[in-house]
Amino acid sequence: MNVAAQPTVFDVQEYWNRRPCNIRHSKLEVGTRAYFDEVEERRYFVERHIPGFAQFSRWKAKRVLEVGCGIGTDATNFARAGADYTGVELSEASLQVARQRFEVFGLKGKFVACNAEELSRHLDTKSFDLVFSFGVIHHTPNQRAVVEQIRKVIKTDGEFRMMLYAKNSWKDAMIEAGLDQPEAQTGCPIATTYTEAMVRDLTKGLFEVVEARQAHIFPYVIEKYVKYEYEPQPWFAAMPATVFEALERRFGWHFLITARPI
Ligand SMILES: C[S@@+](CC[C@H](N)C(=O)[O-])C[C@H]1O[C@@H](n2cnc3c(N)ncnc32)[C@H](O)[C@@H]1O
Repeated sequence: MNVAAQPTVFDVQEYWNRRPCNIRHSKLEVGTRAYFDEVEERRYFVERHIPGFAQFSRWKAKRVLEVGCGIGTDATNFARAGADYTGVELSEASLQVARQRFEVFGLKGKFVACNAEELSRHLDTKSFDLVFSFGVIHHTPNQRAVVEQIRKVIKTDGEFRMMLYAKNSWKDAMIEAGLDQPEAQTGCPIATTYTEAMVRDLTKGLFEVVEARQAHIFPYVIEKYVKYEYEPQPWFAAMPATVFEALERRFGWHFLITARPI
């Protein structure tokens, strides 16, 4: 019998090293101030819900840990808001860009190259007010291990905010129907989609989920989006904004979860 091997953390690392997340959000030279400004503009234009979910200004003078910081767009905004920021990341290529970004903007922060499944080997226990992880945990082989490790390093009165892909979503329906368009991140080794019951299992005995809501349907024509043009698909263009927003709340791709340690 031929059993396909499960992707390893090394496969995951290789994938994100080849193509750090959002690295093509600008055509400008990677590492320049203008490049980073464009990356940020595109991210928060396309994923408008992120600043509201991260609540950057709330974490001034607090210890923030970001699990899977990528090239550091949200990192920059935590640091600008005055947080005592630490970012961990599996992909060295992503971390290099994030570090460069902090230098370019004169921001203070700490970056650690590590596998989040082993966080407490690298960070002090019970030391973070906020652990933030946006679109990361569903990409790693042992997802429960990451949450267990976050429970170790978060303060007992801390807050854990994570985004996981939602199973009950427009995007998942399109993927299952073979109608999803090729996107930036094709070939990703692991991308689990979560139901509410799966979120409860993931956090069981470690965190109490205080809010779980869905957001974000990507509305644009991909062929235009990759050329930095934002033309909604005709069916979304025809839809009143209130209807589109209702669809996003019900079928959004991003499960936004806020939890507190038990
Ligand atoms: C979709 S990207 C999101 C990056 C960033 N949070 C953002 O929103 O731009 C997923 C990131 O998770 C990181 N990642 C995946 N598994 C990880 C692990 N076990 N430990 C640390 N980082 C991991 C990847 O290297 C990649 O940078």
